[in-house]
Amino acid sequence: MELQGEGFTLRQIRLTDAASLQKHADNPKVSAFLMDRFPSPYTLADAEFWVNLMQHKQPLTHFAIAINNEVCGGIAIELMNDVNRITGEIGYWLAEQYWGQGIITQAVNLVTGYAFKNLSVLRIQAGVYHKNTASMRVLEKAGYTKEGVLRNAVIKNGVVMDKHVYAILKEEYQQGI
Ligand SMILES: CC(C)(COP(=O)(O)OP(=O)(O)OC[C@H]1O[C@@H](n2cnc3c(N)ncnc32)[C@H](O)[C@@H]1OP(=O)(O)O)[C@@H](O)C(=O)NCCC(=O)NCCS
Repeated sequence: MELQGEGFTLRQIRLTDAASLQKHADNPKVSAFLMDRFPSPYTLADAEFWVNLMQHKQPLTHFAIAINNEVCGGIAIELMNDVNRITGEIGYWLAEQYWGQGIITQAVNLVTGYAFKNLSVLRIQAGVYHKNTASMRVLEKAGYTKEGVLRNAVIKNGVVMDKHVYAILKEEYQQGI
């Protein structure tokens, strides 16, 4: 299963991707707005651990963003459980050299559509840390609605921040934004 964007492919990660993943992920500007489980510095061992975890995972929920046969980012839907099992949480990152070209907006649109079609979710949400205006803009462009702000909800690099919650419902999704 692959999803095709303009100039990039979303696909399952492979063992041969570890080196390019490490190269692009090892950037404090990328990790700054991600959870601490995304390491910084990002070593080859970190990349190999991630590939081993995800290379056979089914259903496919964690996509590598491949550009010119290199893994230059990732986008995933994490499925929640118990009574929250109709909700997915989307997260993403992209190598700095490709920022500002509309890649993640398109990737969010593709993966949102994939999830509503294949993963039995009725709602997809995202939590964006305060000051990450690029990510908030991505979600707005992809049709997500800001639902609220969770005050002092996260701590990253020693700084306490608000978390802005965005979401889209299945009936709101429009392909090809
Ligand atoms: C956030 C991120 C994923 C965006 O990816 P991208 O492919 O550059 O995003 P796009 O090009 O699709 O859209 C970015 C939008 O944000 C805008 N933007 C970028 N920096 C901005 C800033 N500092 N302030 C306001 N808007 C900004 C861009 O102008 C663009 O909007 P536009 O099309 O209206 O001009 C990327 O910067 C990244 O990987 N950041 C680090 C990891 C991260 O923050 N992940 C998200 C966690 S919630």
